[in-house]
Amino acid sequence: MSRTRTLLWALRSPCRLRCKYCYFGTIEQNLLAPPTEPGELSHLALNDISGAEATRFAGTLAASAVKRVFLAGGEPLDWPPALEVASTIAAAGIEVVVCTNGIPLNRPEIVTALLDAGVTAVSVSLDSADPVYNDTWRPAGNGRDGHAQVLTGIRALIEARGPAPVPRVGIYSVITRANLPDVSAVPQLAAQLGCDYAVPQPISLPTGHELEHELGLTPDHAAALARSYGDLYDTPPPGLRLPRPPYPRQVATAVTTPTSMVRGCFGGHTLNFIEPDGSVWDCPSALRIAATPADDHRTIIGADAATMFAAPTGRAGDCGHFGVDCVNMWPLMRDFDPALDAEAAL
Ligand SMILES: C[S@@+](CC[C@H](N)C(=O)[O-])C[C@H]1O[C@@H](n2cnc3c(N)ncnc32)[C@H](O)[C@@H]1O
Repeated sequence: MSRTRTLLWALRSPCRLRCKYCYFGTIEQNLLAPPTEPGELSHLALNDISGAEATRFAGTLAASAVKRVFLAGGEPLDWPPALEVASTIAAAGIEVVVCTNGIPLNRPEIVTALLDAGVTAVSVSLDSADPVYNDTWRPAGNGRDGHAQVLTGIRALIEARGPAPVPRVGIYSVITRANLPDVSAVPQLAAQLGCDYAVPQPISLPTGHELEHELGLTPDHAAALARSYGDLYDTPPPGLRLPRPPYPRQVATAVTTPTSMVRGCFGGHTLNFIEPDGSVWDCPSALRIAATPADDHRTIIGADAATMFAAPTGRAGDCGHFGVDCVNMWPLMRDFDPALDAEAAL
């Protein structure tokens, strides 16, 4: 079986963090305007599938063409079945990357379960080397010390891993017009902590979002953004992996020409997105989801991954629904390979 497919699986809707720019909206926004459209995300677990169903579907992945699964959300590590899902996938010889806000890593039983599950990598989100910036835009549930808790969580995981090559540990950060220096500062912090990789990714906000003018990236920020990524790639922190070199150019293009066509897009070909209610989409692009005909709406509920995610045939199609959120998919695909390769030379 040739394994070529990647799944981004948003396992659960709830999250205890209060990120003000979150793809899922804020809980306050969700309560005021609960989701109504297919594919609309929220932190309300209105239709989230059960742990039993998620684990059952995970068990069918062994015979599919899936090679890598990112388990995200919401927060996967606040939901105990997530660890069973992770270990089921890892036992099938499929790479599992757990994407977490980092705070659950302060619970020793979670770290032990991650190591026992045999996950390939843990991607921790942290937006800034500056605690004040991070805790303003990405506050913990207690509103106080999210940055500090994430650092202690990362240290606990790296210490528990010891000299073992897995799980790889990395930091993802959301880059906005207000934290451009963090393109380099967070990877430097990641290297000091002993992490293996870092991915600074551009913020994606829907048009009209209330933070668009405070945080959004526009063509006016392209030159400063290019300089920030240039500095990082010119002098990468020693020992730290970054997404492959086309990535800074992809980020710049996303900011300058957000409506361009993506030729041979991997969305729906070798990438799929699964939402907490079990719905399956080509990718998380809101534009592409909105353009998916009702006849093509699919769900993992009761489905077999071997049929649903068989080896792709033919060529990947072109996509005219390019948005700034697309650029955050590249580091999940081939660009992510160096981060997971424990042996490869830097
Ligand atoms: C939605 S979170 C879910 C997983 C987990 N709770 C976490 O914090 O990593 C996945 C990633 O998306 C990022 N993210 C959320 N909203 C975003 C946005 N509007 N633009 C870019 N990245 C965003 C988060 O910072 C995080 O790195």
